[in-house]
Formats: sequence, C-alpha cells, structure tokens
Amino acid sequence: MKILAIESSCDETAAAVVQDGRTVLSSIVASQIEEHRLYGGVVPEIASRRHCESIVGVVDEALTAAGVGKTEIDAVAVTYAPGLIGALLVGVNFAKGLSASLEKPLIPVHHIRGHIAANYIAFPELKPPFLAFVLSGGHTHLIEVKDYTEFEIIGGTCDDAVGEAYDKAARAMGYPYPGGIEIDRAAGEGNPDGYKLPRPRVEGNELSMSFSGLKTAVLNTINNSAQKGVEIVRSDLCASFQKAVCDILSDRLTKAIRLTGMKTVAAAGGVSANSGIRAALQAVCEKEKAKLYLPPLSLCGDNAAMIGAQAYFEFMKGNISDLSLNAAATKGINQSL
Ligand code: KG4
Ligand code: ZN
Repeated sequence: MKILAIESSCDETAAAVVQDGRTVLSSIVASQIEEHRLYGGVVPEIASRRHCESIVGVVDEALTAAGVGKTEIDAVAVTYAPGLIGALLVGVNFAKGLSASLEKPLIPVHHIRGHIAANYIAFPELKPPFLAFVLSGGHTHLIEVKDYTEFEIIGGTCDDAVGEAYDKAARAMGYPYPGGIEIDRAAGEGNPDGYKLPRPRVEGNELSMSFSGLKTAVLNTINNSAQKGVEIVRSDLCASFQKAVCDILSDRLTKAIRLTGMKTVAAAGGVSANSGIRAALQAVCEKEKAKLYLPPLSLCGDNAAMIGAQAYFEFMKGNISDLSLNAAATKGINQSL
C-alpha cells in the first residue's frame, strides 16, 4: 500500500511516499528556518504563508522522486494535530482536496504518533510493545506504546518541553534560532561542571519532568554574571545545561524501565538528535539491559515519512476520516478526532 503523506504542523513543509508503513519511496522537506531565524523563533503567520507557497511543489517533488503517479497512490495521509493551527490547516485542506479529487481514503495522523513511527522506518524489526521517549520542541513524554495505535502516557513535562528549554536557553546565550543544535555543538567543547544548575523534581509522579526552572537558572546565571561584569564561558554553560538535561532524562528513563519492566526503548523527536542525550540514553539502556532504538538524525526532526509510516497502521485499524476533518492545535495522543 502506497501512502502519500503531508506534514505542515510547524516550520517544515514536507511530503513523502511510504509503502506499507516501513519503506520510504521518497521524502521531501522544505524548511523555513532561515526566515524564522530573523525573528528568533517561528512566526505562525509567516509559517502558514510559506506552507501555502511550498505545498504544491513539495508534493509534486515527492511523487516524482518516488516515481509514482497521483493515481497510483492508495491513500492520502496528513498531520492534523497538534501544532500551529494556521500551519496545520494548509496541510489538512490540501490533503482533503487531493483525497476528494483522487477518490482515495484520507488518513489523519497525530504528530507525536508520527514521531514515534519514525522508528518503524529505521528499524524494520521494531514492533510494539515498547517504551517511547518523545523529545521534541513542543512535547516531552514517556509513553508506553502498547500497540501501533494504542498509547499510554506515563510521564511528561509539567511546563516547558525539552526542545523549548534548549531554544530559550540558547537564545539567552546569544545563539540563533533554533538553538538546540548550537548548544549541542558548543557543549562538546565545554566543561559540564563549569556552572551549577538544578535538576528539578516534580512532586507526585516520579516520571514527571520540569525544564522551566533549569531554563530560568541559565537566565539567572547570565544576568548575575553581567551584573558582576564577569564574562560567561558559553561553552561551559552549554555543557552544564546539556549535562543537567541528560541527568534528568536518564533518571526518568531508568525509573520508567524499572516501573514498567519494558526492555525495549525508542527515542523520538527533534531533540533525540542531540549527541549528549543519545549517549546518555544509551548508557541507561546498557545499565538496565534494555535495547535502545535511536532514529537516524534525518528522521528525528519533522518530516512526512514518519507520518506516512504511522498512517499505514492507522489505516489498518480503520482510522480514516471523511472531508469534515479539521485541524487541532492541541490534541492528546489518545484523543479521537
Ligand atoms: O520534533 P521537532 O522537529 O519539532 C517539534 O515537533 O517540536 O523538534 C524541534 C526541536 C527544536 O527545539 C530544536 O532546537 C530541537 O528539536 N533540536 C535539538 C537538536 N536538534 C534539534 N535540540 C538539542 N540538540 C540537538 N542536536
Ligand atoms: Zn515534531
């Protein structure tokens, strides 16, 4: 089954053709990052406009690269939630138009389900159940993947997402948007014990996380140094921040493995591209004798191949939609349409 998938939830216009949930025939990503960088973050209005301009070309390119004509597609899939509402609407309406004109089923895909499914592409042997650690710009969750379309969130952030904390800390340090990768690069040259930063805990659920206090601690460190006229050693602050994040994530993953008894773990989301975090998750899984799946960097960030992969399993469950499908800015991973 060949699925044409579309993703436009944030600042990437993406289209892909994916066969049977595991084989990528093509994957095209048009990034708008350069333009948003001018403003220090994603400007929703600009994102929507750029999606409108790019979507026809990106979808055409995906079909051409796959060597598949429109009529040879078996279904159209699209990210319908969560994300920037104006951005999502571009993809959803385009997909609805294609589905109607081609008379092919329309498959709505939840963005976080898609991030998890990136692992099905990279690792053909991976099947649920497993533990997913979703680390993205908007979401941070520990999820029991019970089946391809059955999820239970067992832990998550109660404030900022991990990627958000990276980007805000980076911005305070003077790095361009998106700063996650800048911190990752600089951390490699810094001293992780250079600055003392907190590892916040959350009362109530030992799998819960909090990153806003850590971000504030970075801001305070910068402000205090400025008041004292002392220059910040940026690479040390980056290394110390990254070490704090790694410690928090390692602690929660260790607890999640022990609590659930699950010995298979898959990372997902843009932040799972982070070199320090990848090494930290690997160390935890080695210690806990669990198998860790780390998607290749090309599948960590937003792309449409992951949406096409998840769409196959949604279709198999009968999760298709009629043309009343709407986009949603927020939607739980288990919430129905
Ligand atoms: O999953 P994603 O592409 O979009 C969302 O669904 O949110 O994640 C984007 C996030 C951004 O916050 C970006 O800074 C972060 O992933 N990111 C990184 C790295 N590469 C991307 N954060 C830390 N280290 C990296 N190497
Ligand atoms: Zn994403």
